[in-house]
Amino acid sequence: MITRRKFIVQSTLAVTALVSRCSNYEAQSGRTADMLSKRLAIDPHRPQYHFLPPANWVNDPNGPIFWKGYCHLFYQYSSTIFPQGPKYWGHARSKDLVHWEHLPMALSPTPGGLDKDGCWSGSAFVNQGVPTLVYTGVFPQVQCLATSGDDMATWKKFAGNPVVASPPAGPAVTGFRDPSIWREGNAWLMTVGAGFQGQGGTVFLYASKDLVHWDYLHPLFSAPAFERHDSVPSGRYDSAGAGDMWECPDFFPLGGKHVLLVSTQGRVHYFVGTYSDRKFRAENQGLIDDSSLHYASKTCEDPQGRRVLWGWVREARSDAAQNAAGWSGAISLPRVLRIDSQGALRMDPLPELTRLRGRHFQIANSEVSGFVPTPQIQGSALEIQLVMDPGGAKEAGIVVRRSPYEAEETTISYDAATQYVVIATGRSSQSPDADRRTHLGGLKLNPGELLRLAVFLDGSVVEVFANGRTCLTGRIYPARADSLGVGLFAKDGRARVKSLDAYEMRAISRDRLTT
Ligand code: FRU
Repeated sequence: MITRRKFIVQSTLAVTALVSRCSNYEAQSGRTADMLSKRLAIDPHRPQYHFLPPANWVNDPNGPIFWKGYCHLFYQYSSTIFPQGPKYWGHARSKDLVHWEHLPMALSPTPGGLDKDGCWSGSAFVNQGVPTLVYTGVFPQVQCLATSGDDMATWKKFAGNPVVASPPAGPAVTGFRDPSIWREGNAWLMTVGAGFQGQGGTVFLYASKDLVHWDYLHPLFSAPAFERHDSVPSGRYDSAGAGDMWECPDFFPLGGKHVLLVSTQGRVHYFVGTYSDRKFRAENQGLIDDSSLHYASKTCEDPQGRRVLWGWVREARSDAAQNAAGWSGAISLPRVLRIDSQGALRMDPLPELTRLRGRHFQIANSEVSGFVPTPQIQGSALEIQLVMDPGGAKEAGIVVRRSPYEAEETTISYDAATQYVVIATGRSSQSPDADRRTHLGGLKLNPGELLRLAVFLDGSVVEVFANGRTCLTGRIYPARADSLGVGLFAKDGRARVKSLDAYEMRAISRDRLTT
């Protein structure tokens, strides 16, 4: 017979083994393995099919890269939530971009070293068969390299770090971080996120023959230059709102154009344009996600040639609630990017996510006016595909995480007058710890165009893809266990549901540790 004591010891050992496989997440946090895993396993707010670390804090995705049959994804990790500790590079890999396996921490701050205060964001690339990371050591912000000689199992920091010790001489800069490196002809090129004080964000461009000695060339692209560009509809880009520092630049070719992503300390902006003479000229621009809860996006090309993007899904609840939960942040679902015939960036959820679909419910061709419950559909891990003609309704869409008697509910809708996709979280939670924001994503439907919403509901994470061109992320923390209901609604008029397909989504792990 197994005694209670023996059971606790055995399960603690099992969890400790799991957690130490995840490279001392536990040792760093100082919590017992047992308490932590129990708390996470029963936490209904913890996503079940989004990637996130075994515990504690995650922010930016770093250096996604394919290597020998796996996609490796790194991420900014801290063993404490608030106050945050120095950043590490957490590490995981996946064969299908859906299921993940946690690996030992890739980079840790070296006491007394250049990254003593943290290994900040960066990228991964391969140099003559050697996987290499480039990241920012802090403080001050300097650019550093690390390499792996064992297929990314362990990483060794370059003895000659930093490879770039300070920003170029000239106007004062507001930051100097988040490098990215790629090969062009017989040179290496590197971008570093920065900003000119009082002017706005910029992306510095560097070149090198050997990855060690770098020459500063010029800004690849800056905020004011973009604003002067004739083809940009005036008023759309707000450099004040964009902050005076551009973080996490990501620059890549796509569909005959080049795309630059910058995180503006608010949201992630994309620019589509041309790249020649080592300068980028923007022709089109927009947002990767209209909500500020998706941040620091990073992409890589997969073996099929698809450009896949991940971002950091931020929390929208109090610091105390995040500490109490023992985890904070998640990585967004992977999005596949493409350029459409108008030169705009389009984003769709990675098709492989359909493998997680379980039970299916369908409604076809029905008219909606007021609230229509769909009692056959309920849950907190769902994918909902809605094709709707908003008709004459002022606002129409779906209601999710609805409790009996409407004590809690979240609506995801289209507001025809304002042409916004809306995630309304004002009544999502009775908890005073939860934010009550309304998230708005601009979406102009063309005459006759139907509204096509793909909604991914996963614990506290809501990701909405609208007509392949507007994405919106929300966070919800329903306090009631029975807030699982779904329904359709149309306000002030009638809307027609062409089709509604809802799927229960399978978890990617048994224990909400996502591995
Ligand atoms: C973006 C960012 C980066 C920085 C990292 C630190 O969220 O501020 O600029 O490298 O987070 O974790």
